[in-house]
Amino acid sequence: MLPKDKLKEVVDYHIQQIRRTTDFVPDLALVLGSGLGGLADEIKTEAVVNYSDLHRFPVSTVPGHKGRFVFGYIGDVRVVIMQGRLHYYEGYSMQDVVMPIRVMAGLGAKILFITNAAGGINTGFEPGDLMMITDQITSFVPSPLIGENVDEWGTRFPSMNVIYDKRLRRLIEETAMDNRIFLKHGIYLQTTGPQYETPAEIRMFRRLGADAVGMSSAVEAVIARHMSMWVCGVSCITNMAGGLGGSAMTHEEVQNNAVKAANEFKKLVTESIIRFGNVIL
Ligand code: HPA
Repeated sequence: MLPKDKLKEVVDYHIQQIRRTTDFVPDLALVLGSGLGGLADEIKTEAVVNYSDLHRFPVSTVPGHKGRFVFGYIGDVRVVIMQGRLHYYEGYSMQDVVMPIRVMAGLGAKILFITNAAGGINTGFEPGDLMMITDQITSFVPSPLIGENVDEWGTRFPSMNVIYDKRLRRLIEETAMDNRIFLKHGIYLQTTGPQYETPAEIRMFRRLGADAVGMSSAVEAVIARHMSMWVCGVSCITNMAGGLGGSAMTHEEVQNNAVKAANEFKKLVTESIIRFGNVIL
């Protein structure tokens, strides 16, 4: 666990390294989940920084995750995209897992838009559905805020009463409606992974109130709220969780179903961001 001075130094060091490549100041940070990374290849790109080009930056090891920051424009909105995120199950410390979120906030981003592939727990969901995240639960995932607090970033005991910003949620809903995209709503539950859940675990999570399950995102949202960013998120339901779909889960299935839902997903995310630009930024 890094002490606060060291943690701040590491984040500042990554920001400085990125600043050697680009002085682009993003308004919004977008994290793209498994199979959803293609959106980053379609934006008006200003600069690209590979995680592997940053000295001492953790590098993603998951197939389907590229591992780079893409800077550019969605409409007129200045964005930084994480094309590939870091997961706790890869073996990184939790401080490392959320480091990129701190870095993107430090680069100027005021909004964090989270996306992910997730398993459906709510029996009203089907693979291919898009779900707006309204709240979250973590299961055996340590808080990313454990360790000394950096007061400059946020308070020791941040409130999580509203993680997913209501105004952003409303704008995403309006965007979905205008584009005839049927959007589900629900609570995202984060496990550590990497194993998929058992049927018994999924029954437990359903009783706890979760609608979808994944292995990322909730800790990113906590960090962003700690830094007073506005947070929103959309899950792509790639499968029914824990064998509810009748077959064993594979990462390939998750990726393939994410790719199938990609067009609607891309439309919803890009049009929502353009709307944020018109209304908020
Ligand atoms: N469980 C956990 N994470 C996931 C799943 C799942 O069923 N699908 C996509 N990510």
